[in-house]
Amino acid sequence: MLRAVMAPIVVPEFVLQVKNLHTKRTHPMTGTSPASNPAGTAVGGASAYAEMMHRAVELSMNGPAHDANPRVGCVVLDAHGAIIAEGWHRGSGTPHAEIDALSQLSPEQARGATFVVTLEPCNHTGRTGPCANALIDAGVTRVVFGLTDPGDVEGGGGDKLRAAGIEVLGGVEPEAVMSVVSDWYRSAALGRPVVTVKWASSLDGRAAANDGTSQWISSPESRERVHAQRAEHDAITVGTSTVLADNPSLTARTPNGDLLEHQPIPVVIGERAVTGERLEAHPREVVHLRTRDLSLALRDLHERGIHSLYVEGGPTLASAFIEAGFVDKLYVFIAPVLLGGAKLALTDLGVTTLTDRIDVVVDSVEHLGSDLLITAHPARPNTEREAR
Ligand SMILES: NC(=O)c1ccc[n+]([C@@H]2O[C@H](COP(=O)([O-])OP(=O)(O)OC[C@H]3O[C@@H](n4cnc5c(N)ncnc54)[C@H](OP(=O)(O)O)[C@@H]3O)[C@@H](O)[C@H]2O)c1
Repeated sequence: MLRAVMAPIVVPEFVLQVKNLHTKRTHPMTGTSPASNPAGTAVGGASAYAEMMHRAVELSMNGPAHDANPRVGCVVLDAHGAIIAEGWHRGSGTPHAEIDALSQLSPEQARGATFVVTLEPCNHTGRTGPCANALIDAGVTRVVFGLTDPGDVEGGGGDKLRAAGIEVLGGVEPEAVMSVVSDWYRSAALGRPVVTVKWASSLDGRAAANDGTSQWISSPESRERVHAQRAEHDAITVGTSTVLADNPSLTARTPNGDLLEHQPIPVVIGERAVTGERLEAHPREVVHLRTRDLSLALRDLHERGIHSLYVEGGPTLASAFIEAGFVDKLYVFIAPVLLGGAKLALTDLGVTTLTDRIDVVVDSVEHLGSDLLITAHPARPNTEREAR
């Protein structure tokens, strides 16, 4: 048996509370609320703080890339615009970036200072207190941030600061900030991890030969890329049949077989109890979601702080994710071999007639050794939760 059998799945309260981005009082990319902060009035405009925001983004990258919390950085300026403190968030349960920076200042230095922070200061008491309150108590003059906080629970710090008479400017270099927190941000908006489905197939769309043999269809270059992609995700998942058929290790490795620095959490989805000798040896605890309800499975993973999920198959599970609309990105590795037969890379997608087809947009086509890698995304992404 796999070590971990999950507790009963419950819909986390947080998922139900995730805010619709389009109805937020502030625009997510500009952070401005028309009533309260015409950009550039008292604070000189976004461009004045662009350089400092890029420094804050750089600092944020000192934080962990795979954590329940986003990576956040902060730069503090004195009245002359000189940097007097720098901070960043080191992961859930540790002080937020603003508090880290504040801790380096005397009360006199903090009073009247400008805080340049990548994400809107939080307004929420979790394992740490609301950053907005700490900044108000410290008597800062101005807060400049890159992106608004997308969560209902954490959001609203900017409005609280404004109400306390602090100058607030949002939407400074939002693309630079988004490049670091995109999975976390989108996951918070969707109430589920961002999902990437990957498969490897022959040129004629088969995942395996008729006897089920499928190992080494793809080139060494493709296999190396797959391991790098695994390491970019918080979690990786397969269906129970793949565990039973392949005894996969689900680790991210170098071509020599050494473990890469980040190991995604291995997740098995399916009702059957399964054994997996190699999975048992995985450096991280295996999560077995004993359900076929992908909506519940994704909510459970989201509640565990997982923001990105790499779906490795097999064909049944990959197809179920696509049919349910829970796909944000596709990686398709195509090897120059023909296999014929019944072992298709995808099974039923619920498409019975051409008008039901699922259109995708191809983002790139790459040669990897003798293979092709097609990167694509659904033309009509599932925005059900965003639209809620
Ligand atoms: N070419 C590739 O990229 C690739 C990648 C991975 C695997 N493979 C190959 O694929 C083969 C296994 O593929 P497979 O399609 O038979 O199995 P699979 O997709 O690995 O697992 C299928 C199982 O997933 C569970 N499941 C969970 N949610 C489901 C849902 N919403 N709908 C349907 N099933 C759901 C069910 O298990 P329960 O009955 O337990 O509920 C189902 O029987 C292996 O031979 C493996 O080598 C190929």
